[in-house]
Amino acid sequence: MNQTYLRCKEAADFIQTKMDASGAIGLVLGSGLGELGDELEDPIIVDYADIPHFPKTTVPGHKGRLVLGKLNGAKVLCMQGRFHFYEGHDMKTVAMPTRVMKLLGVKALILTNAAGGCNKTFKPGTLMFIDDFINYMGDNPLYGENIEEFGPRFPDMTKALDKEYTDLGMKVARDLGIDIRRGVYMGFRGPNYETPAEIRFAQIIGADAVGMSTVPEILAARHCGLRCIAISCITNMAAGMTGEELSHKEVQETADRVKDQFKELIRQLAAKM
Ligand code: HPA
Repeated sequence: MNQTYLRCKEAADFIQTKMDASGAIGLVLGSGLGELGDELEDPIIVDYADIPHFPKTTVPGHKGRLVLGKLNGAKVLCMQGRFHFYEGHDMKTVAMPTRVMKLLGVKALILTNAAGGCNKTFKPGTLMFIDDFINYMGDNPLYGENIEEFGPRFPDMTKALDKEYTDLGMKVARDLGIDIRRGVYMGFRGPNYETPAEIRFAQIIGADAVGMSTVPEILAARHCGLRCIAISCITNMAAGMTGEELSHKEVQETADRVKDQFKELIRQLAAKM
């Protein structure tokens, strides 16, 4: 049997001895949002370090644990800390938690991230539902032998992001008075922020936001038939758009500034999904 499948299965089997996540909403928390995982009621926590085949996260501020609990009445399985391609994990590792969530019986996935805005009408602090994406990461978790247990060799990506849940999320956000947009996310490898020339290229080919995550998870989710939506927090205008240099500090400060809004959106959305 396929090694990647076996690893995912062993990880899921282990997690299932600690918790029953079937029917939960999976939540992948990006930069600045990790604390939402601390706010779940009746939490059951499993450290990544204890899960077979799960690697370690290396990003400061990412905790590295799974938390199952209730959020506003909804059963939620939170990944506090994700694996990024730029950390040196291969794509199959980056996509592993998504596949494990599928094996655990999660019913839908909400992915979140911090991103740079390259749509000129965006502002730092804008939230954006990802409508569609461009995989510019130069790799793909579905590369190699197809894992039939998860899905087909040539998965369709016409509707990679779930429209019904995205529409629902847009409505919830508008009702909350949030500056909410929909757009195209372009995934770069990182870890450097893009060059101004790369951002002009991204704008020309139709990107609204750029970032270094989420694309592998969407690909893996779509492949295995896990409904998935994704929300970017535009933490900064992308390189070359303001004349200022980019910094991780600015990314963190903006994520921190809008996190209460972001958290409320997820809290309300999860309860309605
Ligand atoms: N580029 C890539 N990733 C990011 C950015 C950016 O400008 N901001 C936050 N994550």
